[in-house]
Amino acid sequence: MEKIVVLDFGSQYNQLIARRIRENGVYSEIVPYNVDLSYLKDENIKGIILSGGPNSVYDEGAPHIDKRIYSLNIPILGICYGMQITQYLFEGKVTPSLKREYGKSTLSIIKDSKLTTGLDKESIVWMSHGDHVDKLAPDFELLGTTPSSMAIAKHKNLDIYNLQFHPEVTHTAQGERMIKNFVLDICEASPSWNLENYIEETIAEIKNRVGDKQVILGLSGGVDSSVAATLIHRAIGDQLICIFVDTGLLRKDEGDKVEELYSNHFNMNVIRVNSKERFLLKLQGISDPEAKRKVIGNEFVKVFEEEKLKLENAKFLAQGTIYPDVIESVSVNGPSQTIKSHHNVGGLPKDLDFELLEPLRELFKDEVRIVGLSLGIPKEMIMRHPFPGPGLGIRILGEVSEDKVKILQDADDIFINELINENLYDKVSQAFVVLLPVKSVGVMGDTRTYESVVAIRSANTVDFMTATFSRLPFEFLDKVASRIINEVRGINRVVYDITSKPPGTIEWE
Ligand code: XMP
Repeated sequence: MEKIVVLDFGSQYNQLIARRIRENGVYSEIVPYNVDLSYLKDENIKGIILSGGPNSVYDEGAPHIDKRIYSLNIPILGICYGMQITQYLFEGKVTPSLKREYGKSTLSIIKDSKLTTGLDKESIVWMSHGDHVDKLAPDFELLGTTPSSMAIAKHKNLDIYNLQFHPEVTHTAQGERMIKNFVLDICEASPSWNLENYIEETIAEIKNRVGDKQVILGLSGGVDSSVAATLIHRAIGDQLICIFVDTGLLRKDEGDKVEELYSNHFNMNVIRVNSKERFLLKLQGISDPEAKRKVIGNEFVKVFEEEKLKLENAKFLAQGTIYPDVIESVSVNGPSQTIKSHHNVGGLPKDLDFELLEPLRELFKDEVRIVGLSLGIPKEMIMRHPFPGPGLGIRILGEVSEDKVKILQDADDIFINELINENLYDKVSQAFVVLLPVKSVGVMGDTRTYESVVAIRSANTVDFMTATFSRLPFEFLDKVASRIINEVRGINRVVYDITSKPPGTIEWE
């Protein structure tokens, strides 16, 4: 399949670049900037994009590339750091700035090129850079400027383009068109990537690979495992066996909903393992957050392994791994990748007896959602906020008990339903209630109360690495608080969490 490769210099926008390419019907891949040159010598690679990145070209250990990349006869688009490194390697002058230029600027196109076909002469672009190019390399010509920067440049003889701004973000008004021009006109990649084909091809591949063997999949009810299960089920029907470990730490009625949808509605082979007692027993007396995570993670694997052993003919283990999970992390990517790994608590150890089946490995989250919808999974399951592997175990601060789980489920359910009723659910990224190990005094009717406090948490984020608290309307919060206090026995005070990440995290534990 023809594709465009994004060389990763650590920009937070890399996945966005790759997504924008795919929106043009062309497959894209993100690979580390230092990938071996031989990897790029592939006739299916129609273009290369050099991403932005946090470094200065002069930093010690700054990511540099082999200059021979530019002689591969593959069109190249360098964005931000990608421009600076190109200019640096072609002997232009890159100057470190004391201050980052961050925000909107106005681009003026001074000379037409294939990259800017169909664009207005002036438009808004998004800048986020430290270094800037002071003097273009002799082989390059300037095609566009902003008041403070050389904004577009092109090699005089080769298809090498440079942009100082970020065409991949929506703040750049005509960025989409520039990426389209690069992908379809300059690289001449054929737009053959689409999700309908992907579904058909993947189903055929699964059939072919699995043959008459059995496949086991850990179904969590989350988007990725659900879509993977549905896709595999389409391919091999009853040969797929889903193991759904109900830890008892799920959201209200979640276990029943998952069972109803996949077992009854989709007719899948789902083994629901009700393990609430086991988990609660293991959690007794434990209040340290990391210890709780470990206990839940270990117990989860144990239950799963026990069930797996009962299925003697299974040869494959399916997982809902998606593309952001497999993009190889490079050092310039900073700590973001490491933060993620500790979250794979519900993840299962690689088992050498099994072959892995990961039908979503090539897809971004929003593509997974589109596949899920087109396979008939209801929108409310597909658009659900993420839910951590350890579940309510890390939203009940301190020691977990059955009563606390029930209180939290009820309070959380009220909050989530109100968000849905007020059309706010899709406007926030993740919302939930946290039960605090704190009691406070209140008054209800004429009676003094002394009960628990819950915190309402709602965060807005793109990548879950950083987040701001949602600016939910006060009237809305008022309504949620009143309902929780009136309807959930054991809670007499509600507080709203206004902490961003950093310094906070989204979850409280
Ligand atoms: P934090 O709290 O670190 O969370 O800001 C970022 C995102 O990760 C989710 N999260 C987890 N997911 N296992 C998971 O599968 C975990 O142990 C875990 N801890 C946090 C969290 O819900 C948020 O979406």
